[in-house]
Amino acid sequence: MSSADRLKPYRENLEGLTRQGRRRGLAGRQGVDFASNDYLGLAQSPRLVDAVRRALDDGVPVGAAGSRLLRGNTAAQEAFEEKAARHFGAEAALGFGGGYVANFAALTTLPQRGDLLLMDELSHASTHEGARAGRAAVQSFRHGDVQHAADVIAAWRQAGNRGAVWIAVESLYSMDGDIAPLDDLAALADEHGFLLVDEAHATGIYGPDGRGLAHALEGRGNVLTLHTLGKAMGGSGALLCGAGCLVDFMVNRCRPFIFATAPSPLMAAVGSEALDILREEAWRREDLQGHVQAFGEELRRRLPHLQFSGSQIVPLIVGPDVETMELARRIQERGFDVRGIRPPTVPEGTSRLRISLTLNATRADVIRLAETLEELWPVS
Ligand SMILES: Cc1ncc(COP(=O)(O)O)c(C=O)c1O
Repeated sequence: MSSADRLKPYRENLEGLTRQGRRRGLAGRQGVDFASNDYLGLAQSPRLVDAVRRALDDGVPVGAAGSRLLRGNTAAQEAFEEKAARHFGAEAALGFGGGYVANFAALTTLPQRGDLLLMDELSHASTHEGARAGRAAVQSFRHGDVQHAADVIAAWRQAGNRGAVWIAVESLYSMDGDIAPLDDLAALADEHGFLLVDEAHATGIYGPDGRGLAHALEGRGNVLTLHTLGKAMGGSGALLCGAGCLVDFMVNRCRPFIFATAPSPLMAAVGSEALDILREEAWRREDLQGHVQAFGEELRRRLPHLQFSGSQIVPLIVGPDVETMELARRIQERGFDVRGIRPPTVPEGTSRLRISLTLNATRADVIRLAETLEELWPVS
């Protein structure tokens, strides 16, 4: 078989995506940032840059040079995990290279055969992949619907199942910008098992000192939280926070943790400084909430038919893929980095602009974007 023949199925698959208007490509950074997850504007902040310089001057290595269980366990990483556990109010924290792998790692390690992994239907791809590769039975419940979650568990119990139930949710949904009913879910978890809260888009922004929306639940033996370092915290990596026993179990049993090079110790230095920033620079959270409020007011005035999420993630549902991408393109031409999101990232028929409010944009930019939306997207 020639290499052209071998590549044919891949080429045909890509051509199929082109026909559907779903072919993706990598695009550079252009325009005012309404697309990143750098919500607090920390990714290029002098404090994080200095933290890296200081760490290098102090002899912190660039690479971990091995798995955590071998030579890759650095003092910087251990100190950061201890500090993060204290900051978030958890018994222990464990670092990973990113939120995707941390979700995958937790879901393929902790839920056991005979357990049920019950996830919100709009959970992130990493939750879906972890569920698919894990040992537990998997079911989902309607987005944000605790009663439906309880019904699914009741039916599963009625079928004679006695295992633990692992409820997996996001605290602030990445593509919808809405908030999970965490207290009710925690009550359900108290009856049946565990609650795993992915705080990817809430860490740094909500709760005292940016501890997240699940801050009041941290420290409970049956609650695990995932705090990513690559979004509001301005670096990269993630922390799984929870009971010391579960973290120790991960160290012993989690293949993506054991058989992987540890995250760069420089990211531990960045994460540690970011935690200090969260405590010391509350104005960043306040400024961001100011952006959210201003954008909400502008949208309500200019495009009153639209639903406003009320958070820094503002999805504007257009519907058809092609229309969505065309609208995004026209907004980009005006100097705003606004991206269209299509299936399979979001459900069919709900293609949208995902507007992300960050401190990389000024209040004037936020208002100009609302004006531009009104001009380019006059919906009857
Ligand atoms: C809800 C959620 N969880 C996890 C992740 C993955 O985190 P990371 O980008 O650190 O791999 C993302 C990333 O977009 C996310 O939105």
